[in-house]
Amino acid sequence: MKQKCTCSLFIMVLTFISIADAASDAANKGVYKVVNSTTKEPCIIFQADIYLYLTYHTSDSEKDVIVHVPTSSTADTGVSSCNVTITTSGMSVESQLLRVNLDHMNGWTIDFAFTKDNRFKTEKEKQFALYQVNITANFASDPTAFPDFKYPTQQYYLHVDPNDLSDIGGSIFASVGHSYYCPSEQKYAINDNDNDKYGPMAYIKFKLTTIQAFMEDTDSFGPKETCPTDQSTLDLVPIIVGSALAGLIVLTLVVYLIYRSFLPEEVLNLVNPEAHFDSDTASNDEIDKTSSIERF
Ligand SMILES: *[C@@H]1O[C@H](CO)[C@@H](O)[C@H](O)[C@H]1NC(C)=O
Ligand SMILES: *[C@@H]1O[C@H](CO)[C@@H](O)[C@H](O)[C@H]1NC(C)=O
Ligand SMILES: *[C@@H]1O[C@H](CO)[C@@H](O)[C@H](O)[C@H]1NC(C)=O
Repeated sequence: MKQKCTCSLFIMVLTFISIADAASDAANKGVYKVVNSTTKEPCIIFQADIYLYLTYHTSDSEKDVIVHVPTSSTADTGVSSCNVTITTSGMSVESQLLRVNLDHMNGWTIDFAFTKDNRFKTEKEKQFALYQVNITANFASDPTAFPDFKYPTQQYYLHVDPNDLSDIGGSIFASVGHSYYCPSEQKYAINDNDNDKYGPMAYIKFKLTTIQAFMEDTDSFGPKETCPTDQSTLDLVPIIVGSALAGLIVLTLVVYLIYRSFLPEEVLNLVNPEAHFDSDTASNDEIDKTSSIERF
């Protein structure tokens, strides 16, 4: 009995945690949309809680800072586009572009560029991928948070090389018409080249992520394609619940067998011949019923 209570309590707590999670999720991530200017339908919906890990030059050295992108930030409707050609590393890439303006952080932007271009391993344009992320940091906007900066603004950008797909490019993709779904934390390098070839180092971390680009004629996400990390963690829940239920069944059986073994011999004999008798003679029950009455 005690075990059963513990178990239902456990299931209640699990349910409560997932409800609380869902409620806080909505408030704890930014939602950014880019709309097609003719149809007014979104071509990109990007939901995530975003953190930036930036290194900046100080007067005599370097400093690392973590910047949380305010969830109240918005898409820049002037720069974002459903069809733009981006030139980078000597390539022209037909893209969709989302620029996020960081709320209350003047001069801070993040550009996310998506493409179906087959040079980015998109299964002959059947998939879209996030192939470039550029950050503009305006350290001068808040000298208290970013003390002793050498340059007021700093650009960080993901160097694009189709022969050597970036972490982001190789991870954040989905079939056209589907959405990329990844609730767990994922941290990617924008520039982890520490010899300053592409400027100071930068990383980006996403949480509670759902992304879809190249959307057409719909304003809701297509079927989810879950990232590998969350495929395994999500599978754990049914396993835990299943094991708890299986444990309960075994427990009930064991308790019953123990209880039964404590019954006096006469009680067991009272029950047993009756049960045996019933099942043995199930076919001609008329006679059996009378004979069983006779026996009593
Ligand atoms: C906007 O939507 C229309 C109709 O679906 C489409 O023909 C057009 O190419 C879209 N524009 C862009 C920029 O994607
Ligand atoms: C995107 O723009 C180019 C030229 O600017 C055009 O050729 C192409 O058809 C457009 N694509 C879409 C999907 O609208
Ligand atoms: C990112 O920055 C690089 C280097 O300045 C530039 O070539 C590229 O066009 C930019 N990409 C986007 C998506 O803004």
